[in-house]
Amino acid sequence: MTKLKIITSTTRDGRSGGAVEKWITAFAKEKSTFEVELLDLSVINLPMMNESKHPRLQDYKYEHTKAWSAKINEADAFIIVLAEYNFGYPAPIKNALDYLFNEWAYKPVSFVSYGGVSGGLRATQMLKQVITALSMMPIPEQVNIPFFAKLIDANGVFQANEIIIKSAEHSLSQLQKWSDALKVMRY
Ligand SMILES: Cc1cc2nc3c(=O)[nH]c(=O)nc-3n(C[C@H](O)[C@H](O)[C@H](O)COP(=O)(O)O)c2cc1C
Repeated sequence: MTKLKIITSTTRDGRSGGAVEKWITAFAKEKSTFEVELLDLSVINLPMMNESKHPRLQDYKYEHTKAWSAKINEADAFIIVLAEYNFGYPAPIKNALDYLFNEWAYKPVSFVSYGGVSGGLRATQMLKQVITALSMMPIPEQVNIPFFAKLIDANGVFQANEIIIKSAEHSLSQLQKWSDALKVMRY
Protein backbone atom coordinates (compact mmCIF):
# COMPACT_ATOMS: atom_id res chain seq x y z
CA MET A 1 0.00 0.00 0.00
CA THR A 2 1.22 3.50 -0.82
CA LYS A 3 2.24 5.39 2.28
CA LEU A 4 1.23 9.00 2.86
CA LYS A 5 2.92 10.87 5.70
CA ILE A 6 1.23 14.02 6.92
CA ILE A 7 3.83 16.29 8.52
CA THR A 8 3.05 19.21 10.80
CA SER A 9 5.00 22.47 10.79
CA THR A 10 4.56 24.02 14.24
CA THR A 11 5.49 22.89 17.74
CA ARG A 12 4.52 25.68 20.15
CA ASP A 13 2.36 25.02 23.22
CA GLY A 14 -1.33 25.52 22.55
CA ARG A 15 -0.91 25.72 18.80
CA SER A 16 -4.01 25.66 16.58
CA GLY A 17 -2.44 23.56 13.84
CA GLY A 18 -3.55 20.42 15.68
CA ALA A 19 -7.16 20.94 14.62
CA VAL A 20 -6.23 21.20 10.94
CA GLU A 21 -3.87 18.22 11.14
CA LYS A 22 -6.49 16.01 12.78
CA TRP A 23 -9.02 16.96 10.11
CA ILE A 24 -6.79 16.28 7.07
CA THR A 25 -5.50 13.03 8.59
CA ALA A 26 -9.04 11.71 9.12
CA PHE A 27 -10.09 13.00 5.69
CA ALA A 28 -7.17 11.31 3.90
CA LYS A 29 -7.86 8.03 5.74
CA GLU A 30 -11.48 8.14 4.64
CA LYS A 31 -11.14 9.49 1.10
CA SER A 32 -7.92 8.05 -0.28
CA THR A 33 -6.35 4.63 -0.71
CA PHE A 34 -3.14 5.78 1.00
CA GLU A 35 -1.98 4.23 4.24
CA VAL A 36 -1.94 7.45 6.25
CA GLU A 37 0.23 8.44 9.21
CA LEU A 38 0.47 11.79 10.97
CA LEU A 39 4.01 12.82 11.90
CA ASP A 40 3.58 15.48 14.56
CA LEU A 41 6.79 17.49 14.95
CA SER A 42 5.73 18.62 18.42
CA VAL A 43 5.81 14.95 19.50
CA ILE A 44 8.81 13.87 17.39
CA ASN A 45 10.67 16.74 19.05
CA LEU A 46 13.79 16.95 16.90
CA PRO A 47 16.49 19.22 18.35
CA MET A 48 17.90 21.94 16.12
CA MET A 49 19.83 20.05 13.43
CA ASN A 50 22.93 18.73 15.18
CA GLU A 51 24.35 16.00 12.92
CA SER A 52 28.02 16.55 12.05
CA LYS A 53 27.98 15.04 8.56
CA HIS A 54 25.95 16.09 5.52
CA PRO A 55 22.70 14.10 5.45
CA ARG A 56 23.38 12.81 1.93
CA LEU A 57 26.00 10.50 3.50
CA GLN A 58 23.33 8.98 5.77
CA ASP A 59 26.00 8.45 8.44
CA TYR A 60 23.81 9.51 11.33
CA LYS A 61 25.16 9.92 14.84
CA TYR A 62 21.94 10.37 16.80
CA GLU A 63 19.01 8.05 17.47
CA HIS A 64 16.53 10.88 16.80
CA THR A 65 17.94 11.20 13.26
CA LYS A 66 17.91 7.44 12.65
CA ALA A 67 14.27 7.22 13.73
CA TRP A 68 13.30 10.23 11.57
CA SER A 69 15.21 8.75 8.61
CA ALA A 70 13.33 5.44 8.92
CA LYS A 71 9.94 7.19 9.00
CA ILE A 72 10.64 9.36 5.96
CA ASN A 73 12.31 6.55 4.04
CA GLU A 74 9.15 4.45 4.05
CA ALA A 75 6.98 7.31 2.72
CA ASP A 76 5.66 7.49 -0.86
CA ALA A 77 4.02 10.93 -0.62
CA PHE A 78 3.65 13.83 1.79
CA ILE A 79 1.20 16.45 2.89
CA ILE A 80 2.77 19.28 4.87
CA VAL A 81 0.31 21.07 7.11
CA LEU A 82 1.84 24.50 6.94
CA ALA A 83 1.33 27.56 9.11
CA GLU A 84 2.74 30.95 8.21
CA TYR A 85 5.08 32.71 10.63
CA ASN A 86 6.15 36.23 9.68
CA PHE A 87 5.32 35.78 6.00
CA GLY A 88 7.39 32.60 5.81
CA TYR A 89 7.46 28.94 6.88
CA PRO A 90 7.81 28.06 10.59
CA ALA A 91 11.31 26.95 11.62
CA PRO A 92 10.41 23.42 12.85
CA ILE A 93 9.45 22.19 9.37
CA LYS A 94 12.66 23.57 7.82
CA ASN A 95 14.66 21.91 10.61
CA ALA A 96 12.90 18.57 10.03
CA LEU A 97 13.61 18.78 6.29
CA ASP A 98 17.28 19.69 6.77
CA TYR A 99 17.98 16.55 8.83
CA LEU A 100 17.70 14.24 5.81
CA PHE A 101 18.42 14.21 2.09
CA ASN A 102 17.99 11.00 0.06
CA GLU A 103 14.95 9.93 2.10
CA TRP A 104 12.91 12.81 0.66
CA ALA A 105 13.83 12.35 -3.00
CA TYR A 106 11.33 11.71 -5.80
CA LYS A 107 8.33 11.95 -3.50
CA PRO A 108 5.40 14.27 -4.24
CA VAL A 109 4.28 16.89 -1.75
CA SER A 110 0.99 18.70 -1.34
CA PHE A 111 0.24 21.35 1.26
CA VAL A 112 -2.60 22.16 3.59
CA SER A 113 -1.75 25.73 4.51
CA TYR A 114 -3.51 27.91 7.04
CA GLY A 115 -3.26 31.46 8.30
CA GLY A 116 -4.88 34.88 8.17
CA VAL A 117 -5.68 36.66 4.92
CA SER A 118 -2.96 34.83 2.96
CA GLY A 119 -4.00 31.37 4.22
CA GLY A 120 -0.33 30.41 4.39
CA LEU A 121 0.30 30.88 0.67
CA ARG A 122 3.45 32.94 1.20
CA ALA A 123 4.86 30.20 3.43
CA THR A 124 3.94 27.59 0.83
CA GLN A 125 5.69 29.41 -2.00
CA MET A 126 8.84 29.74 0.10
CA LEU A 127 8.84 26.10 1.17
CA LYS A 128 8.34 24.88 -2.41
CA GLN A 129 11.73 26.37 -3.27
CA VAL A 130 13.36 24.51 -0.35
CA ILE A 131 11.86 21.11 -1.08
CA THR A 132 12.98 21.14 -4.72
CA ALA A 133 16.58 21.17 -3.40
CA LEU A 134 15.72 17.78 -1.88
CA SER A 135 14.33 16.48 -5.21
CA MET A 136 10.83 16.46 -3.81
CA MET A 137 8.01 17.23 -6.24
CA PRO A 138 5.65 19.98 -5.04
CA ILE A 139 2.38 19.36 -6.85
CA PRO A 140 0.22 22.33 -7.94
CA GLU A 141 -2.87 21.18 -6.04
CA GLN A 142 -3.17 22.18 -2.40
CA VAL A 143 -5.64 23.18 0.27
CA ASN A 144 -5.39 26.82 1.26
CA ILE A 145 -7.28 27.99 4.35
CA PRO A 146 -7.52 31.76 4.94
CA PHE A 147 -8.90 32.91 8.32
CA PHE A 148 -8.75 29.29 9.43
CA ALA A 149 -9.54 30.14 13.08
CA LYS A 150 -13.15 30.93 12.06
CA LEU A 151 -13.55 27.28 11.03
CA ILE A 152 -12.54 25.84 14.41
CA ASP A 153 -15.64 25.23 16.51
CA ALA A 154 -16.14 25.58 20.29
CA ASN A 155 -14.83 22.03 20.81
CA GLY A 156 -11.62 22.78 18.92
CA VAL A 157 -12.71 20.74 15.89
CA PHE A 158 -11.91 22.02 12.40
CA GLN A 159 -15.07 22.27 10.27
CA ALA A 160 -14.12 22.18 6.60
CA ASN A 161 -16.34 24.04 4.13
CA GLU A 162 -17.25 22.84 0.64
CA ILE A 163 -14.34 24.58 -1.11
CA ILE A 164 -11.85 23.06 1.31
CA ILE A 165 -13.37 19.59 0.94
CA LYS A 166 -13.25 19.80 -2.87
CA SER A 167 -9.65 20.96 -2.93
CA ALA A 168 -8.65 18.26 -0.42
CA GLU A 169 -10.26 15.55 -2.57
CA HIS A 170 -8.57 16.86 -5.69
CA SER A 171 -5.18 17.22 -3.98
CA LEU A 172 -5.32 13.65 -2.67
CA SER A 173 -6.20 12.17 -6.06
CA GLN A 174 -3.39 14.11 -7.75
CA LEU A 175 -0.96 13.14 -5.01
CA GLN A 176 -1.78 9.49 -5.65
CA LYS A 177 -1.08 9.93 -9.38
CA TRP A 178 2.26 11.63 -8.79
CA SER A 179 3.21 9.04 -6.21
CA ASP A 180 2.50 6.20 -8.64
CA ALA A 181 4.31 7.94 -11.51
CA LEU A 182 7.43 8.71 -9.47
CA LYS A 183 7.71 5.17 -8.08
CA VAL A 184 10.08 4.17 -10.90
CA MET A 185 12.52 6.87 -9.77
CA ARG A 186 12.43 5.74 -6.14
CA TYR A 187 13.46 2.12 -6.66
C1 LIG B 1 5.34 33.85 15.46
C2 LIG B 1 4.06 33.97 14.68
C3 LIG B 1 4.06 34.63 13.47
C4 LIG B 1 2.89 34.71 12.70
N1 LIG B 1 2.93 35.28 11.46
C5 LIG B 1 1.86 35.14 10.63
C6 LIG B 1 1.94 35.50 9.25
O1 LIG B 1 2.94 35.99 8.77
N2 LIG B 1 0.85 35.30 8.47
C7 LIG B 1 -0.32 34.75 8.96
O2 LIG B 1 -1.26 34.55 8.20
N3 LIG B 1 -0.43 34.43 10.26
C8 LIG B 1 0.62 34.60 11.11
N4 LIG B 1 0.54 34.23 12.42
C9 LIG B 1 -0.76 33.79 12.94
C10 LIG B 1 -0.89 32.31 12.67
O3 LIG B 1 -1.54 32.10 11.43
C11 LIG B 1 -1.73 31.64 13.79
O4 LIG B 1 -1.22 32.01 15.07
C12 LIG B 1 -1.68 30.13 13.69
O5 LIG B 1 -2.46 29.61 14.74
C13 LIG B 1 -0.25 29.60 13.77
O6 LIG B 1 -0.22 28.19 13.69
P1 LIG B 1 -0.01 27.32 15.01
O7 LIG B 1 -1.14 27.67 15.95
O8 LIG B 1 -0.08 25.90 14.54
O9 LIG B 1 1.33 27.70 15.60
C14 LIG B 1 1.68 34.16 13.21
C15 LIG B 1 1.70 33.52 14.46
C16 LIG B 1 2.86 33.41 15.17
C17 LIG B 1 2.85 32.67 16.50
